[in-house]
This record gives sequence, C-alpha cells and structure tokens, in this order.
Amino acid sequence: MKRVVRRVINHKYTAVNPNILIVGSVINFDCFIKRFGDYVIIIEAGTLITSELAHIINQNQDIYIAVHDMEKVKVYKTQFGEDEHSKELNQIRSVEEAMRSMFAVKEELKELKSLEKQITKAYQRTVDLMEAIFNEKSETLPLNALFVATEVLVDYLYSEEINVMPIVLPLMPHEYSTHHHSTNVAVFSIILAKTLGLPKADLLDVAYAGLLHDIGKIRIDRFILLKPASLEDDEYDLIKRHSEYGFEILQNNGITNRKILDGVRFHHEKLDGSGYPEKLRGIRIPKFARIIGMCDVFDALTTRRTYRSNYSTYEALMLIKQEMAEQFDVRYTDTFIRLLASR
Ligand SMILES: [Fe+2]
Ligand SMILES: [Fe+2]
Repeated sequence: MKRVVRRVINHKYTAVNPNILIVGSVINFDCFIKRFGDYVIIIEAGTLITSELAHIINQNQDIYIAVHDMEKVKVYKTQFGEDEHSKELNQIRSVEEAMRSMFAVKEELKELKSLEKQITKAYQRTVDLMEAIFNEKSETLPLNALFVATEVLVDYLYSEEINVMPIVLPLMPHEYSTHHHSTNVAVFSIILAKTLGLPKADLLDVAYAGLLHDIGKIRIDRFILLKPASLEDDEYDLIKRHSEYGFEILQNNGITNRKILDGVRFHHEKLDGSGYPEKLRGIRIPKFARIIGMCDVFDALTTRRTYRSNYSTYEALMLIKQEMAEQFDVRYTDTFIRLLASR
C-alpha cells in the first residue's frame, strides 16, 4: 500500500521595506500584509508593479515575504535594483504639481507638429492628473484642471475627421490602474459620443463624467479595492457604493450639471435592470451613463487585474456583443465595434 505523506505548510514570514518593489517590474514572489494577526496575500507572484500599486503599498504598513522566498527576492533585487529610471517612475506628483502641468499643456500642445504627439501628451498629462487625484484622495477636486484636461482631450480627439482609435489604443497599458482606467473611459466616451453625433458641448461633459466616473472609490478601503481574491458579498456591496459616493463628491464640489452627475451616478446601470444603484431599465438610464457604462466595461475587460488576466479586444467585444447583449444599447455597441474594427 502506498504511504500518503501529508505535508504541513507552515510558512515563516519576514518584514521587508516596501521600497524594494520597483515600478515596471514583475515580482517573482508573493507579498503579504498582516491583518488581524494573519498574513494576507496582497500581491501575487507574477504581478506587474504599477506606480499606483507601489504607492498604495508604500503607504501601507510593512510588507511580508515568506522566508523561503528570500532567495527569489535577492534575484529580483539584482535584476531590478533601483536606477534613475525607476526612481522617476516611482515619483508621484501632487495634485498641485499635476494642475500646474495641466494649465501649461495647451501652449505646449500647439508646439507639437503631429496629431499623434499631441494626443499622446494630452493623454499622459490627464493620466498624471488623475493619478495625483486618486493618490491624494482629497474630496476637494481640482475642477479647473479637470476642465482643461477635458478640453484638450476633446480638441485633439475631435479635431480631425479620422478614426483616432489607432493612436489612443497603444497608449493604454494592459495593467489596470484607476487613473489609466478613468482616462481611458473618458477617451473612449469622447470618441463614441462624437461618432454617435453628439454636439461638442456634450463631448466635454461626457469626458468630465468619464474622468470622474469612479471618483467615489477614494472613499473605499484600498485593501478591498486591491484584494487579489474574489470579494465577499459585503465587500462587493461596499464597492458598489462608489457610484453614489461619486455623485455626492461631485455635488459637494458644486457641480450642478445634471448630465455629468447622472453619468457618474448611473454608470453601472444596465438596460435589462441588472445594474446598480437603482436597477434602472432601458432609456430610463441617462444617455451619458449608457455611453460611459459600455466604455467602462470594455476598458475593465481589456486590462489585467490582480485576480484575472485581460481579455483581448476581440474577446471583450464578443463578450459585450453576445453575453452582455441585454445590458447595453446595441447602437452603441455596434458603433464601438466598428470604430475598433476599422483601425
Ligand atoms: Fe465604476
Ligand atoms: Fe470604472
């Protein structure tokens, strides 16, 4: 008879400085934090360290590594030891600094010769601003700088009668971060709204709502937002509050534009009534919310999360078109597919 050997895994952990995680590297060991006396995995081996992730970890308490992984940490450090490039990437701007860069960008964009360079710069500056906003978590929003961001995005994405998808898609990283996601949703919403024939004033508003659609997440514990495993029901309920929180934050900042407020509040509503917070159906869901909602799902599916890999553009579109057909406006999905197919 075969003997069954039952191995008891009893890891020992050691605290390490969170600064060992270098932005742009993929870690080859699991990272843990201590919660209520237990070691809880916070970043899995194989994860790309984004600047947002590094920032969150740096703000967190110590991180812990299983002792038996320390050899891997040594290899990682020799491979990715901090250099000038990673130092620069690790540097996160303050909102004030990002605002100043945003106010300067209009003149800088005029100097650039190609539309591609202009769109790239407008996109990067917006990402920087959103990153600073999500890092600082202040509920007082830099409304003017956000308005400049929407103006430049709309100006350059709207300026030519060409499909700008081939220019914007390569700018978008496959790794999910809230600041890239917010910018991507704004960019996709502008392009979709423009193609659907919405007036320019609406494009500015849809971009504003797109940038801020997930702003309510600044009120949610980052431990839940970044949890690599699937969420418990009560944790998911907490996350679902972000659209109403966003609505409140915008109102508290003096925003009264109904289209923007509703775009944020209802971006998770679905045509078949399966969404939240109000389970609205069909055309009761405001137009901006329908546009942003579809762009939101597309961007979320095509970016990698701590708990799953990303879908390709084709796979994401097929999911939206077939399995989520009841949830989205078919005119919006078909237009979006055409834009992505004709690039
Ligand atoms: Fe959301
Ligand atoms: Fe979102």
